[in-house]
Amino acid sequence: MTSPDLPAELKAALDGKLRGFSRSDAAGRAAAISKNYREGGGSTTIRSETDALAYALARMPATYAAVTASLKALVENRPDFAPKRLLDVGAGPGTAAWAAAEAFPSLRDFTLLDANAALRTLALDLAHDSTRLRGIGYQLGEARAALAKADTADLVVASYMIGEIGEAAQRALAELLWQKTHDTLLVVEPGTPAGYARIIALRAHLIGLDAHVAAPCPHDSQCPLQAPDWCHFTQRLQRSRAHKQIKGAELPYEDEKFSYVALTRAAVEQRPSRVLAQPIVTKVEVTAKLCTPEGLSFTRVPRRAKAEYASARRWRWGDAVKDES
Ligand SMILES: C[S@@+](CC[C@H](N)C(=O)[O-])C[C@H]1O[C@@H](n2cnc3c(N)ncnc32)[C@H](O)[C@@H]1O
Repeated sequence: MTSPDLPAELKAALDGKLRGFSRSDAAGRAAAISKNYREGGGSTTIRSETDALAYALARMPATYAAVTASLKALVENRPDFAPKRLLDVGAGPGTAAWAAAEAFPSLRDFTLLDANAALRTLALDLAHDSTRLRGIGYQLGEARAALAKADTADLVVASYMIGEIGEAAQRALAELLWQKTHDTLLVVEPGTPAGYARIIALRAHLIGLDAHVAAPCPHDSQCPLQAPDWCHFTQRLQRSRAHKQIKGAELPYEDEKFSYVALTRAAVEQRPSRVLAQPIVTKVEVTAKLCTPEGLSFTRVPRRAKAEYASARRWRWGDAVKDES
């Protein structure tokens, strides 16, 4: 299984960049960038090489973990998918390209696209000595204009990006992303109600343009969740010493919440149910909230159903499972 933690080559490249930079300065910049994100300003405060590095140190481990978890779910439902060409839109420091390279050894050609010059420079530096990503192409430009000129790719990824585009422009961006998708489009957003709302709007819009869901949903119907509930998942990742210092954090790990959808050109048959929250396991039964091909189900697996109970005990939030009820 692909690890949610940054690959050794990327960790080493980030550590190498950090040498010579003051960690307290990087921490201050990361805090200012994060404040701007929380206030809806997106990545506009990432202007210099140091800003880009501070952002990458603070956020890349978590967005990498979220993309890796989403790709894992996609691979489980489509084990034969072997993309050759990747298009990473709103690539920033190259997070999704690194995650996709780990998930798909078949990938040969990596095109990244972003409007931020400082993040582009950092991405190219980080990938420079990589055995997998050396020679990546990185287009600098506004996504919609750059996408219009881009070639199609087997796998298109937009990770933590569509929220930075105004709501009115998101539909047009979704259509462009889909136009450039030869096989599969993965969109990942923060696991907040707002991030989920963007995912669900894009999902509905593209299903209307003949897309099919590969993951996480086991169906192409309307999402059965009702507000204030929302579909999201969580991925635990380890924090390195530098990561803790930049974030001013004590805990050796963090849990990244994310929402995602993977859409394909061809329908994916037989998608299993999805666990939508951490199941409750007691000595009497396992209770789990599942999204099933028929809709939402609060499944109870009693202990007396020995084999089913043993298997349901291992269910984790986000897993694809056979409904044992
Ligand atoms: C939160 S970062 C995510 C970076 C990376 N995909 C990740 O998951 O770590 C969002 C990225 O989208 C880029 N972006 C936002 N709006 C854009 C636009 N209209 N055109 C191109 N890039 C854009 C930003 O420059 C930034 O690098």
